[in-house]
Amino acid sequence: MPSVKDRFLSMLINSSDYVSGEAASKALGVSRAAVNSAVMSLRNDGYEIDSATNRGYLLTSRPDRMDGGNVGAFLSPSRMESVTVLPVVDSTNNYCKDLARKGAPEGTVVISESQTGGKGRRGRSFLSPPGCGIYLSYLLRPKTGIEKISEITCWTAVAVCDAIKETYGLDSSIKWVNDVLMNRMKICGILTEASVEAESGTIGSCIIGIGINVNEKRSDFPDELSTLATSISIENGGKTFMRAELAATLIRSLDDLAAGWPDAHGNYLEAYRSCCITPGNRISAYTTMAGESPERTGEAISIGDDFSLEVRFDGSDETTSLKSGEVSVRGLYGYT
Ligand code: BTN
Repeated sequence: MPSVKDRFLSMLINSSDYVSGEAASKALGVSRAAVNSAVMSLRNDGYEIDSATNRGYLLTSRPDRMDGGNVGAFLSPSRMESVTVLPVVDSTNNYCKDLARKGAPEGTVVISESQTGGKGRRGRSFLSPPGCGIYLSYLLRPKTGIEKISEITCWTAVAVCDAIKETYGLDSSIKWVNDVLMNRMKICGILTEASVEAESGTIGSCIIGIGINVNEKRSDFPDELSTLATSISIENGGKTFMRAELAATLIRSLDDLAAGWPDAHGNYLEAYRSCCITPGNRISAYTTMAGESPERTGEAISIGDDFSLEVRFDGSDETTSLKSGEVSVRGLYGYT
């Protein structure tokens, strides 16, 4: 259940006029003193709240903070009941995995303002400072075989592109298999972790972890990422984007994904094909299994019906179907 402070903030955000202390205390089912203390605490967090005698409170300015009230203003109160927003956590995927183990339902969401041990793919870490990005994990219980896990991440990449378009009106694209790009540089990574039920081989729970670079500045990225990663802000003239709105839209997009799984395959495949910019590019393929063959180069041709990447390797007339998990692909000219 969201706190009084969070629920009051959501009320203020959704009201274009003053909210009286009395109306707030009635709507929230708390005392006037509790409303006053929420006002003080919100002001401490940087929310500017005007108070006028006989009128109440009006929110006049809102910082870009990832907190429950800010996100909750853009979702229904019932949806917020299964959304946890934390100031800091080791990894939202780990936290969400714990909730899943305790029986949390599909649609459970964990968001954090920052992560101290953000995880990337292939054992890498994912830089997660406060005040910049969206670090969000979503619990799916898809009742499908583990071989479908990479398809889930492809659907997720589509959900991320949709949410960015809907919230900020901006176009993004996908580098096979599931990096989301803006102007051909990475703005979002997805790490999907699943637990498998031994007897049936089906996925018991699947944690979809999404990290989006929203308001980072160039100097926030380490040197080794400077030519690969960017943020939505950098690509749009340094403007600050409100992360809470994007997080809320993303939750709705992921709810659509969960509701559509697996029947909406055709829609997601079509959307994926139109967003994915890997086909048509020269690529290098690296096998990800230790001790396997060295890299090969070729041309990416198309996206297969199972979201595989069809590639014609140099020296071959045939196309090879690359499955994610087995290979990673890098463009020969730049990141894509
Ligand atoms: C990658 O590109 O390597 C994937 C990065 C995934 C990062 C997100 S941030 C939210 C969630 N929690 C984590 O620890 N990792 C994912």
